Amino acid sequence: MKGSVVVLTGAGISAESGIPTFRGEGGLWKNFKPEELATPQAFAKNPKLVWEWYDWRRQLIAKAKPNKAHMLLAEMEKKMNITVITQNVDGLHQRAGSKKVIELHGNIWRVKCTACSAEYELYETPLPEIPPKCKYCGGLLRPAVVWFGEPLPEDVLSKAFELTKECDLFLVIGTSGLVYPAGYLPFLAKQHKAKVVEINPERTPISEIADISIREKASVGLRLF
Ligand code: OAD
Repeated sequence: MKGSVVVLTGAGISAESGIPTFRGEGGLWKNFKPEELATPQAFAKNPKLVWEWYDWRRQLIAKAKPNKAHMLLAEMEKKMNITVITQNVDGLHQRAGSKKVIELHGNIWRVKCTACSAEYELYETPLPEIPPKCKYCGGLLRPAVVWFGEPLPEDVLSKAFELTKECDLFLVIGTSGLVYPAGYLPFLAKQHKAKVVEINPERTPISEIADISIREKASVGLRLF
């Protein structure tokens, strides 16, 4: 579509809201092992441990506020054809006012029943009971997020691919680009002749193909738009 912009965001855009990133200095994967907390196997083995970690993150996110970068993207949506594709599960883009948001890895405020498959929002945190039980059938709930080794929802992924192939500008903010398929999207955009602009204080594999790399924090880099 003419003049369309796709923005791919990662944990770095929420760093200025006080939410830790996964990799790098102070990253969650420095202190926690993904295979013990963010895989279907980990959940099958110890749902209580996994839920304790998610409840801790839910509390951090509940206290956090959208920052300047989230706000600037929401402002941009009023003036241009822009869609945010995010790997974040924190919902901060929506809280800042962005309407067109595709959540590749789900949302930490949604839960899914492992017994009856009901999916619904559950905002209470700290949770009164860990692990929480389904309000419909009493089954074990899981966070409605994508874990390592799980496929992304097909409809979500195909929409992300479609928008990426059609856009004129592909803006990448605050992602290491190491997790696929999200990390593939900037390359797909480039193949389809979009300009790729990266905002990240650090170099990433995406820097290799970026037309412009802005080595700034998200809130500073976005002010240039
Ligand atoms: P990472 O933690 O891998 O990368 C965060 C990126 O943000 C790094 O490249 C930092 O340099 C950059 N960064 C840090 N502070 C920033 C700031 N203020 N402004 C802009 N950039 C900043 O996070 P993701 O790339 O989002 O998946 O990680 C992708 C996926 O891996 C996550 O969705 C999660 C994780 O494991 C699952 O849990 C499935």
